[in-house]
Amino acid sequence: MKLTDKEKRMLNGEMGFPVQKGMQIMAALGESFGAEKMLEVNNVHMPGASIVVAGEAGTRFVEEMYDKGGRFCAFTTTNPGAIDIDNWRELGIDEEDAKMQMRLTSAYEKMGAVICGTCTPYFLGNVPRKGEHVAWGESSAIAFVNSVLGARTNREGGPSALAAALTGRVPAYGFHLDENRRGKILVKVESKINGATEYGTLGYYVGSRTKQDIPVFEGIPQNASIDELKSLGAALASSGAVALFHVVGVTPEAHTLEEAFGGNKPELELKFGLKEKEDTVELLTKSKSSDVDWVILGCPHTSIREFHDIAKSLRGRKIHSGVEFWVCTALPVKAMAERMGYVEEIVNAGGKVVCDTCPVLLPARKLAQKKNLNSVTTNSAKMAFLIQGQHGLLSRYGNLEQIVEAAVKGMWR
Ligand code: F3S
Repeated sequence: MKLTDKEKRMLNGEMGFPVQKGMQIMAALGESFGAEKMLEVNNVHMPGASIVVAGEAGTRFVEEMYDKGGRFCAFTTTNPGAIDIDNWRELGIDEEDAKMQMRLTSAYEKMGAVICGTCTPYFLGNVPRKGEHVAWGESSAIAFVNSVLGARTNREGGPSALAAALTGRVPAYGFHLDENRRGKILVKVESKINGATEYGTLGYYVGSRTKQDIPVFEGIPQNASIDELKSLGAALASSGAVALFHVVGVTPEAHTLEEAFGGNKPELELKFGLKEKEDTVELLTKSKSSDVDWVILGCPHTSIREFHDIAKSLRGRKIHSGVEFWVCTALPVKAMAERMGYVEEIVNAGGKVVCDTCPVLLPARKLAQKKNLNSVTTNSAKMAFLIQGQHGLLSRYGNLEQIVEAAVKGMWR
């Protein structure tokens, strides 16, 4: 792998231990994927920002990087942690977990990260341009930045994103290269799809069949919203490992079907009709009980437009006593929702607006036991899938109207 003089100095330790460690990680990654050179990056979205992922060992490693002089040279935002920084006690998070999370968050902050604690940093102004090389972690954010914004990232994990932030470099392989961004599988969307939940249903179905391959969607309306596309990407990246998708006539590298496939023929064709839609919805509901106890909205984190819809659907209604109703979001989006009165409407109805975290990235099993919560009811295909796989809580899946109805009655029909 060809390194510049500056990169060689980084690797030799001339710029300190953290930079050397970071460059060792990047060089090893580059060698194993056959990269010919490094690319400069000035934009990192940091996964591994939760103690549920990093654990004590990961937290100590990040602290060590700071203690030994590590400072980020790339603009860096952080993924959700395990606590709402301002309201963790009210949510029932243990002090011991909160303390460890604060150590990890503090180390990232002191190295120069913007602590935004969200999987939707693109709602807060971290919006890389088309063709820009970046180093992002968090599967839903990766799918969004590659597909909807047209920037270029591989699926960075905690150590490689940390290395990119310290060195400002990523190896040139995978989705950074034109030849790896072309579609492989054609998906004909034959059923009408409407709303973020249905886009999630589509994404879950397709992701479970394409695995890592790049799907190209034909038949998605030209006016698909940003929230619908974020939901599509999040679900594709959870049932599969999709990091890039194209929607003909909608996403920036797919003005035409031919452009999306780079002139190649699809290796496989899938169709998504009414039957596929209904079967997928059924698959995502695992709980047999009709009792609703924990409702989770905001996966990926709630946008201001979604806040508007949630507040409207709760207007004049009260959430059933005993139902935990969470709307997860980023702090600046909450501030805007407060100004618009949406937060007040949600809280008055009996809900909670939760920032900086997500139920998959906090100790959800422990919290559920403490609060006697047995299942999760959600409008997110990603949440329905992960909360069960990672925390053992059974899911119920439906659209916003169904969820609000169930939250008010305390019962799922
Ligand atoms: Fe975001 Fe958590 Fe969902 S990180 S995409 S809210 S699982």
